[in-house]
Amino acid sequence: MIILDGKKLRDKILADLKIRLDAMPVKPTLAVILVGDDPASEIYVNNKQKTAQNLGINSVVLKYPAQLSENELLEKINELNNDTAVSAILVQLPLPAHIDKNKIINAICPAKDVDGLTAQNLGLLFSGQTPMVFPATPRGILLLLDEYKIEIEGKHVVVIGRSNLVGKPVSQMMLARNATVTTCHSYTKNLADITKSADIVVCAIGEKIITNSMLKSGCVVVDVGISLDSSGKVTGDVEFEGASKIASYITPVPGGVGPMTIAALMLNTVDLLAAQQV
Ligand code: GUN
Repeated sequence: MIILDGKKLRDKILADLKIRLDAMPVKPTLAVILVGDDPASEIYVNNKQKTAQNLGINSVVLKYPAQLSENELLEKINELNNDTAVSAILVQLPLPAHIDKNKIINAICPAKDVDGLTAQNLGLLFSGQTPMVFPATPRGILLLLDEYKIEIEGKHVVVIGRSNLVGKPVSQMMLARNATVTTCHSYTKNLADITKSADIVVCAIGEKIITNSMLKSGCVVVDVGISLDSSGKVTGDVEFEGASKIASYITPVPGGVGPMTIAALMLNTVDLLAAQQV
């Protein structure tokens, strides 16, 4: 069994990206909007900001109270869209319940949509065209599989989760790489029968649901889940101990997909500025 080391690949990607950035006369500016005080979101946003700053990417975090109105948020996004000094915009999810997430995301100018989540960019991805950028977690997952030369073409890829952030785009990207894709979710019946036929399992649910008896010998396991177990330790969707005895490759949590998401987000930030400059 081989561990898919997301930290090691992140470091390599960021070192290469730093060289690319140092050669750019104008540096990207990433604006991150954080509404409310969700503690996990604060940690994610701090990580993004720290990584960006270490690379020489300008990073602005705009923090608003949970009571911010939808219109006020739309106005803020409009300002950022029109600000030529801002090259990338990210609205941290989840948003408070009174704000329509889709309305907000679709207000972001697609050329500055660093998460690739606008209807325009997801629509391009889902119709087999090239979006401005691919959503960061799916991009990070594919970079990690490619680094370890894991074949995707012709394989049965089982994706568990159907969010716009991970499940749906990663399913499409696997399809575009000629995999046979099954997308499962909370209403899926007989999940174990499906996962047992998977060559690659991508799990993005946020609860511990994958045990070794659900996996085929030699399969590849990609665990996107992050949650805290009863002792407060960061854990994923997969029973790592058991699964690592049966899988050929597996991502650890932490240290697998998480660092790759950050690396892919930084790549997206630089790619957007490069596209704006042509
Ligand atoms: N919340 C959890 N992951 C993400 C992400 O990749 N992007 C955004 N915008 N919000 C998130």
